[in-house]
Amino acid sequence: MNFADSEVVNSILLDEGMVPVQTAEEADVIFVNTCSIRENAETRVWNRLKEFRSLKKENKKLTVGVLGCMAERIKDRIIDQEQLVDIVVGPDAYRDIPNLLAEVEDGRKAVNVLLSLEETYADISPVRTSGNGVSAFVSIMRGCDNMCAFCVVPFTRGRERSRPLESILREIRELSDQGYKEVTLLGQNVNSYKYEDIDFTRLMDEASKVNSEIRFRFSSPHPKDFPEPLLHLIAERPNLCNYIHIPAQAGSSSMLERMRRPYTREQYLSLIERMREIIPGVSLSTDIIAGFCDETEEEHHDTMTLMEIVEYDLAYMFAYSERERTLAHRKYEDNVPEDVKKRRLTEIIQQQMAIQEKNNKAEIGNRHLVLVEGESKRSAEQLSGRTDTNKMVVFDRKDFKKGDYVEVEITDCTSATLIAKPVAKSSITEFFAEPALV
Ligand code: 5AD
Ligand code: SF4
Repeated sequence: MNFADSEVVNSILLDEGMVPVQTAEEADVIFVNTCSIRENAETRVWNRLKEFRSLKKENKKLTVGVLGCMAERIKDRIIDQEQLVDIVVGPDAYRDIPNLLAEVEDGRKAVNVLLSLEETYADISPVRTSGNGVSAFVSIMRGCDNMCAFCVVPFTRGRERSRPLESILREIRELSDQGYKEVTLLGQNVNSYKYEDIDFTRLMDEASKVNSEIRFRFSSPHPKDFPEPLLHLIAERPNLCNYIHIPAQAGSSSMLERMRRPYTREQYLSLIERMREIIPGVSLSTDIIAGFCDETEEEHHDTMTLMEIVEYDLAYMFAYSERERTLAHRKYEDNVPEDVKKRRLTEIIQQQMAIQEKNNKAEIGNRHLVLVEGESKRSAEQLSGRTDTNKMVVFDRKDFKKGDYVEVEITDCTSATLIAKPVAKSSITEFFAEPALV
C-alpha cells in the first residue's frame, strides 16, 4: 500500500513542478512514507529521520516530511519534541501537500492528519518512478473496518471505502498502454470491495478483460467471507494468477476468537480445501503472528499444525508487537515473554522453510510461465522473474529480456528460489491454451 501511496504523492509533487533527484543530499524536500503495523517498522523510520537531521544542518532550506500511518499516530511528538520534521501528512491528506509546503515556506510547521470517509485518490494517475516497469500495484480501496484485536490499521488509515470501478479500469488501461505485464490489486481487505453494485469478483472479471496478456494478483482477502465465485473465475481465466494470499494469523479457534478474526480453524481449513478443489495446483501464502496475548503452548502448536496441513508456498511470519489504541492494547496483556515469542516464531519459520524446500523440490521437472522482472541479483548472465504461482525463478539470460513471458523447465531449487532452463518465449494465451484435441 505504501508503494502505491508514494506513487500518488509522486504525481501530486510532479504537478507542483518538482523534479525527482537521485540522492537525499541533492534534495530540497524529502518525504518519508511510514508504516505503523509493527514496532520495528516505526523504529526504522525514526532512524531514517535521524539520518536526515545532519542534512538539515547542512542545508537550512531542506524540508523533511512524514507521510502515512505514523504521521497520524505521533504527530505531536514528531513536530514538537524531536525537531526532525517540518510536515506531517496522514494517508488521506496527500492532496493538501502543496498547501502544507507553502505553510513551511512561510516558516510554520504544517500538519494534516484528517482521515476521510471518501478519499480514494481515484482521479490521480500514480507516477511509477521506482518500479521495474513490468509489475504495478493498483489501489482499489482504502482503510479497514475489521478491527482485528492486534491491528492498528483501522486507526491509522480510517474507514473502508472503495474506488470507483471506472477509475480502476482506466488506470489498468494506462498501465497496459505503457507495457506493464502484471497488476496486483491492493486493499486492506479486498473481498469487501463494493462500488455501487460491483463486488470484488466482478471487479476482477472486468480488470482481467482489459488485456489478456496482463496477469492479475490481489492482496489481501479476508478468510471470513472469501467469495467462491472468484475461485471459479480464477480457475477459468488464464490471466488470473493461480496464487492466493490468505492470511490465517493463527491456527487455533480460541486464538482466532481473541484476535477478533471471525472464523474458526475448521472454517479456514475448509476454505483452503475449496480453493484446492476448484483451482487444482493453486499456490497459497499467509500471514502468521506468534506470541499474541495469552497464547498457550497448545495454541502455538495449533498454528504449527495448521501450517503443516496447508503447506503454504510462502508465509510472512511476525512476533506480536503491541500497538496503541488497538483492542489488545486496551483490554489484553502483552504477556508472552519476549524469549518465548522468539522461540515460537523461530519454530514457525524453520518449519515453513522445510515445507517450502519440499514444495520446491516437487517442482523439479515441471514447466512454468515466467514473467521476466529483470537481471538476477547474483549474476548479469541470468534473469529472474516469477511463475504464475508467484515463485521466484532464475534462469540463463539467452536472448530473453525484461517483460518477456518465458516458458521454463525447473531443474533445481533452494527454499526460496527455483532454478530453471528456459524453453522458449511464450505468452499467457499460448501457454495456458487448452491442449488441442487429437
Ligand atoms: N504485531 C505483529 N504483526 C502484526 N500484523 C498486524 N498487526 C500486527 C501486530 N500488532 C501482521 C498481520 C497482518 C500483517 C500485514 O501484519 O499478520 O496480516
Ligand atoms: Fe488489520 Fe485485520 Fe484490517 Fe487486516 S483485516 S488491515 S489485520 S484490521
